[in-house]
Amino acid sequence: MRAHVITYGCQMNEYDTHTILSELVAGGHEIVTSPHDAELMVLNTCAVRGKPVEKVVTLLGELRKEKQRRPLAVALMGCLAQLEEGQALAKKFAVDILIGPGAITDILPAIEALETQGRYTSLAFKGDLLTHIPPAPATLTGFLTIMRGCNHRCTYCIVPTSRGPEVSRPVEAILNEAEAMRSAGVQEIYLLGQNVNSYGLGLPGYPSFAELLKLVAATGIPRVKFTTSHPMNFTSDIIDAIAETPNVCDFIHLPVQSGSDRVLRRMAREYRRERYLAIIAEIKAKLPEAVLSTDIMVGFPGETEEDFQATLSLYDEVQFDSAYMFIYSARPGTPSYQHFTDLPKAIKTERLQRLIERQKYWSQQRNQRWVGRELRVLLKQPSDDGGYNVGHSDQNHTVLVPNEQVTGVGLYPVVIEQATPHALYGSVVSAERQRLPLLMAS
Ligand code: SAH
Ligand code: SF4
Ligand code: F3S
Repeated sequence: MRAHVITYGCQMNEYDTHTILSELVAGGHEIVTSPHDAELMVLNTCAVRGKPVEKVVTLLGELRKEKQRRPLAVALMGCLAQLEEGQALAKKFAVDILIGPGAITDILPAIEALETQGRYTSLAFKGDLLTHIPPAPATLTGFLTIMRGCNHRCTYCIVPTSRGPEVSRPVEAILNEAEAMRSAGVQEIYLLGQNVNSYGLGLPGYPSFAELLKLVAATGIPRVKFTTSHPMNFTSDIIDAIAETPNVCDFIHLPVQSGSDRVLRRMAREYRRERYLAIIAEIKAKLPEAVLSTDIMVGFPGETEEDFQATLSLYDEVQFDSAYMFIYSARPGTPSYQHFTDLPKAIKTERLQRLIERQKYWSQQRNQRWVGRELRVLLKQPSDDGGYNVGHSDQNHTVLVPNEQVTGVGLYPVVIEQATPHALYGSVVSAERQRLPLLMAS
């Protein structure tokens, strides 16, 4: 079949899409870039907020119409597929294949079953997905999922329902996958999981996350990054592993969600402001150059102006380099949807605006400190307007250099000349300097 795959949501879904695509190719199907050429449309969906769900609903409506005009099969996969909400949508829009995130390797049997039995549903959390190793991606940055699911119960979050309980992949599978990526020329590996810090926790024979970081780094891959960390188990040994291992980047994404203890309690986040700030203090002491980012949610039910001020003051204390900022979205099936009353939209939007202003201020301050200094940048592609080549520093800044200075994709030493809240601009250092060993992140 000619298949077209659309991905919504987080990097874990992007990783899963890579698996889906490679399964389709292995099964003799053709991947097409235009949906109009497709006989099979695969939607790898996200349900974390209302917006990505709305997008899928709109598309399912269009595809149902398209199905009346020509032969077309539709596969609803990913997080939405696992939820009652997704199952109801599948019925309403005559979806042919319904596969949850724990059963993505069922895509080939599902296509076969279409011919014999029509509709196909698989919502299992399959163990074989943990040992499955997809072919290395043909990209400079490669995602590598080290664990699936989530054992936390943040009251706003649908992920534990959509992705099931937390399971760690065996270390051999992870290292073999990392090794295959390194051999294929991948320059940067992102270790992925909802809470990577609890990798292997309580499992005899499994390394801790800090040990796993060192093992992956030992494959010789130039850069190792990871996401997402959870403040509950972001332990000192992880900070030490980053400090000791040059190719583990000192870029740390540590979602805080709120600066108010009252809100954190209602969210059922298992740490408080003081503990979060203590982790940040330890990071800053041991990794003075570390770049910090976070996830923050505004407008959680019951959030007062005072609670929001606590979030702003935490931002000022930490001085994050960047942040993903979200407006609370009530998700059916979550405890906060069931038990709490949503705040008026105007209040939530206004708080987000104020938070974005604060973020811009600190991002500008934090980015400014790199002006005049050298960073190692993985240059990946020309910018949309073609004038620049865009890449990411070891510390995960977006960095742009004039396109004519770049002879090919890869790692370059770049001197930073200008900073904005969103990006750094610089020049590739002279050929003579390039012969010097490159500075590593830590
Ligand atoms: N496991 C990670 C992140 C998972 S989802 C963690 O615990 O940090 C990514 C981000 O989406 C979350 O950090 C949170 O800020 C946001 N998010 C999750 N559910 C949400 C909801 N119902 N409304 C708005 N944002 C949400
Ligand atoms: Fe969702 Fe909380 Fe799990 Fe993160 S830790 S995925 S926010 S339930
Ligand atoms: Fe969305 Fe599922 Fe990721 S809900 S954010 S795709 S884990």
